[in-house]
Amino acid sequence: MKDVPIIVLDFGSQYTQLIARRLRENGVYCEIVPYNESIESIKAKNPKGIILSGGPASVYADDAYHPDEAIFELGLPMLGICYGMQLITQHFGGVVIAADQHEYGKAKLMIENKESAIFKDITDGSVVWMSHGDRVDMLPDDFDMIGYSDNSPYAAIANEAKKIYALQFHPEVQHSVEGAKLLKNFAKHICGIESTWNMGSFAKEKIEQIRQQVGDKKVLCGVSGGVDSSVVATLLYEAIGDQLVPIFVDQGLLRAGEREQVEAMFKQRVGIDLITIDATEEFLDKLKGIIDPEQKRKIIGETFIRVFDREASKHEGIEFLAQGTLYTDVIESVSVKGPSKTIKSHHNVGGLPDWMTFELIEPLREIFKDEVRKLGLELGLPKEMIGRHPFPGPGLAIRIMGEVTPNELRLLRESDTIMQEELKSSGNYDKVWQAFTVVLNVKSVGVMGDNRTYDNTVCVRMVESVDGMTATFAHIPHAVLERISTRIINEVDGINRVVYDITSKPPGTIEWE
Ligand code: XMP
Repeated sequence: MKDVPIIVLDFGSQYTQLIARRLRENGVYCEIVPYNESIESIKAKNPKGIILSGGPASVYADDAYHPDEAIFELGLPMLGICYGMQLITQHFGGVVIAADQHEYGKAKLMIENKESAIFKDITDGSVVWMSHGDRVDMLPDDFDMIGYSDNSPYAAIANEAKKIYALQFHPEVQHSVEGAKLLKNFAKHICGIESTWNMGSFAKEKIEQIRQQVGDKKVLCGVSGGVDSSVVATLLYEAIGDQLVPIFVDQGLLRAGEREQVEAMFKQRVGIDLITIDATEEFLDKLKGIIDPEQKRKIIGETFIRVFDREASKHEGIEFLAQGTLYTDVIESVSVKGPSKTIKSHHNVGGLPDWMTFELIEPLREIFKDEVRKLGLELGLPKEMIGRHPFPGPGLAIRIMGEVTPNELRLLRESDTIMQEELKSSGNYDKVWQAFTVVLNVKSVGVMGDNRTYDNTVCVRMVESVDGMTATFAHIPHAVLERISTRIINEVDGINRVVYDITSKPPGTIEWE
């Protein structure tokens, strides 16, 4: 197992992922594990330091999250943040109380102990972000106050001899101006970790790991043209060359010209000849008469697996299947709150059915989406591939309200192409996170020339987002929307109305189904 220099125990703070991001941005590799990770598993990762995250609970609550207490006896440097601070205080015999006033927002950190390694190069009076209800009221033995703020007499405390530090504020959030430096100080000056981690070293390490794992066997990899699967395929190709069996399934639900674009991009830019399987008929047959969105997704997911399985049986020696599972997928499923409620069944997460006997290879499991993009660039993938908007596995099927028919697919492809063209030519493509059209299957009356029309409606959906988990509708100039609308109505036979979706997520989702 790979060594993990810093382990972050997650107590359910909305900011936990940011701790990992700040450290990685500073060249320090770390992983987040649930708060109750066993001590054996933590030891097996051979960490040099442990961070206890914040969390919404109170350490005195009946259902408070507590880690395996043995982590306090490992003798490793430790940093507690907010709830993590309160756990440290409680464990070592101090007192935590509910503060008279909850403290949210900016505060000035006054440094009491300027010699403390955690404050190396941190400015006295630096702005930090507070967000807490409870606070430390009495320090444990052998701990000193090393920093304070107007409202927090114990904004930072430490047992320097044991290298245990605790902060009332959140260094990981952007509002804590020198917070990233503070986290780096913990890693570098307290845990003794050098900042050597970067995408280049990650790629090399992964390639070596894949070679070891695969040996002389073959790996099946589904490619969609999206960033994640493209990066996975490229990484595998670097590692094992022709032992990679890269499959591109045309499920008949791709955008106009997409199949040719993806094939050409792989051939010319990566040197991989994709094995394209035209399964259009099979998918569209199965989708006939299906209206319910969840049923569409299930059918598409199952059909994918069948197509894959059939193709796999044609190649001797395939023992592995590669997937582009990301860190966020993994974290979501192990978070302290447990797996979140199923809003939509994303068919590409959740593993394989029992009857499939492939071993999984998931080389992106430890990294974030924007890190995947960096990795792609590192591997030499072209910018236009890296910057592509996400496209869902079930494809256009979930952008047609109601039954998927050849005519609806045509309306969607033609309108989507116009929208993409206009977005690109107006310089807005890279400003939005995702943009597409939806066929609503709502007919309305219009007038074109002197004639009455009674035709279908297309909705334009454009969102701004960081990770797709939340999103706001994009504030696109009206002139661009106007051109999109005019062109769609003029050029797409069967559409006489275009609407713009002004719903954010939540309460909406990005896709319509
Ligand atoms: P929602 O609609 O859930 O979408 O707000 C969030 C992001 O996920 C994409 N999406 C999918 N991607 N398989 C995928 O690979 C799916 O089943 C799926 N459903 C939604 C969606 O395009 C958006 O980027």
